[in-house]
Amino acid sequence: MITGASSGIGAAFARLLAERGYGLILVARRRERLERLAAELPVEAEALVADLSLREDRRKLAARLRSEERLALLVNNAGFGTRNRFWEADLEGQTRMHEVHVMAVAELTHAALGNLVRQGAGGIINVASVAAFSRSPGNASYCATKSWMVAFTEGLALDLGSMGSGVKVQALCPGFTYTEFHDVMGVSRDRIARILWMHSEDVARRSLEGLDKGELIVTPGWGYRMFTAIFPRLPLKLRMALEARSPHTRGRL
Ligand SMILES: NC(=O)c1ccc[n+]([C@@H]2O[C@H](COP(=O)([O-])OP(=O)(O)OC[C@H]3O[C@@H](n4cnc5c(N)ncnc54)[C@H](OP(=O)(O)O)[C@@H]3O)[C@@H](O)[C@H]2O)c1
Repeated sequence: MITGASSGIGAAFARLLAERGYGLILVARRRERLERLAAELPVEAEALVADLSLREDRRKLAARLRSEERLALLVNNAGFGTRNRFWEADLEGQTRMHEVHVMAVAELTHAALGNLVRQGAGGIINVASVAAFSRSPGNASYCATKSWMVAFTEGLALDLGSMGSGVKVQALCPGFTYTEFHDVMGVSRDRIARILWMHSEDVARRSLEGLDKGELIVTPGWGYRMFTAIFPRLPLKLRMALEARSPHTRGRL
């Protein structure tokens, strides 16, 4: 099952997993986009329309994950960004972000792991971000929820390790990637240097290669790997001074 499969990184996961022969359950809100992708894939693919910010939709997906005998992989990929100071942003949107990035990931992972641990195999990929390792003005909820995803995934790895389970978990931490993400957010890509951008297919491919090797945190691109290794270790005052000048948000607020 791939959430957020109607575009971007989720659709790239769908194409690569189809190449590997996986049957797919594609989840998002836009039915037409899901059905078009499902029809194009050379494997059995089901379009499942759901809004992950709605508890009832999450409950239905969780029930499916618990009962799906062929479940092998859950990719918690659905997500979005916003671009305002926290208290100036509409609270409903901020709450929705927590529902999609945190509650949906927790509830779907709970259901999927119950199933996978019984089988003793399979995996969960949580699509976080390099934003998990830094903050930037206008992104308080985004960075916090993505940090939660990484911490949550590390915790799951310890839980699985404590019983010697063969189930693998991964936090995928992409940097800037060409998708619809910045269009949805209403941010121009021109603000961000070209060299920083990656393609969704490369990001998804790197994630699956990492899963094969059992890598817990996958950060595609050596520049981003250096960043996530060094930046969180800087003294807090220096780190926050640099974060305040983030190229991502400069002049945007
Ligand atoms: N692009 C980047 O630069 C970048 C960098 C780091 C991390 N990421 C992360 O990568 C993940 C995928 O984003 P993307 O870059 O591929 O952006 P995208 O092209 O905008 O895709 C986002 C996907 O999430 C789905 N989605 C959003 N809200 C949803 C909801 N309430 N219920 C169900 N599905 C929902 C969208 O489908 P519908 O609209 O059809 O529902 C869409 O399929 C996100 O978690 C994002 O935070 C992106």
